[in-house]
Amino acid sequence: MAAGDNADQIDYWNGEAGNKWVRHRESQDRMLAPLGALSLAAAAVVPGERVIDVGCGCGDTSLALARQVVPGGRVTGIDISVQMLEQARQRAGAKPDLPLSFLEADAASHGFPQGEADVLHSRFGVMFFNDPHAAFANLAGALRPGGRLAFICWRPLAENEWVREPLAVAGRLAELPPIPPPGTPGPFAFGDRDHLVSILKAGGFSEHDIAPHDRPVVMGGSLEEGLIKIVENSPVSRALADAEDEVRARVADAVGDAMQAYMTPEGLTLGTATWLVTARKPG
Ligand SMILES: C[S@@+](CC[C@H](N)C(=O)[O-])C[C@H]1O[C@@H](n2cnc3c(N)ncnc32)[C@H](O)[C@@H]1O
Repeated sequence: MAAGDNADQIDYWNGEAGNKWVRHRESQDRMLAPLGALSLAAAAVVPGERVIDVGCGCGDTSLALARQVVPGGRVTGIDISVQMLEQARQRAGAKPDLPLSFLEADAASHGFPQGEADVLHSRFGVMFFNDPHAAFANLAGALRPGGRLAFICWRPLAENEWVREPLAVAGRLAELPPIPPPGTPGPFAFGDRDHLVSILKAGGFSEHDIAPHDRPVVMGGSLEEGLIKIVENSPVSRALADAEDEVRARVADAVGDAMQAYMTPEGLTLGTATWLVTARKPG
């Protein structure tokens, strides 16, 4: 795959970040499932449709979509992470009857067959483009006239308790890198609603609906499970990437203490704030 504009993200998702997503896949999917349920419901896929799952990662939503398009439809998961795609292909291999395949390519620049897809879907996989306006224009090319877009993405970090609270604890013990300016490729790139609207417009999408959703998610069935995710595979681990082991260990202890306040009968439960975005390619 040509690295193009998204070389940094391609390196990132093919490095330790991709390995961690694979390692924590089941727990990660349990956490994200209730949020993915929102984007899947918004996509409202029906049998026979051709769907592209953008930034499909380990394939959880691609599998769900593939169950919805039978008979007659087809789902393609696209991602840049070799190891996450390998995981997705293994999972799909266990369901050989599903019309599902995966593509290793940069969704921002991939030469999709033009005008063939009915639906573009994504669960947290579209916020990593260096030039999101161009990327969404490219994605729109894949859709047929009248085709639908449905995705879920994070609102600003400050509204997302699941990151804000552990980061606040970490920030008292370690010098953290500055929070990237709004719009920087990364989980919170689409936090600003106006920025999101400009991206959808650049893609030529109409009928946008950008709805805020606030809901708690279970980060782990136990404090330990949730903590491993926070410290190893979340924006907190990104912020601690350059910290020394000893600092990281102290942060983990302190975050563990602070997180006890968020234990519920279901497990470690913190608030999330997302945008559920739907739009249509003019028919
Ligand atoms: C936060 S993960 C979400 C993965 C998956 N959708 C899920 O919900 O489990 C973001 C995903 O987007 C992928 N990604 C980032 N930039 C991409 C690009 N330019 N083209 C395709 N996939 C990309 C990453 O490799 C990663 O798998």
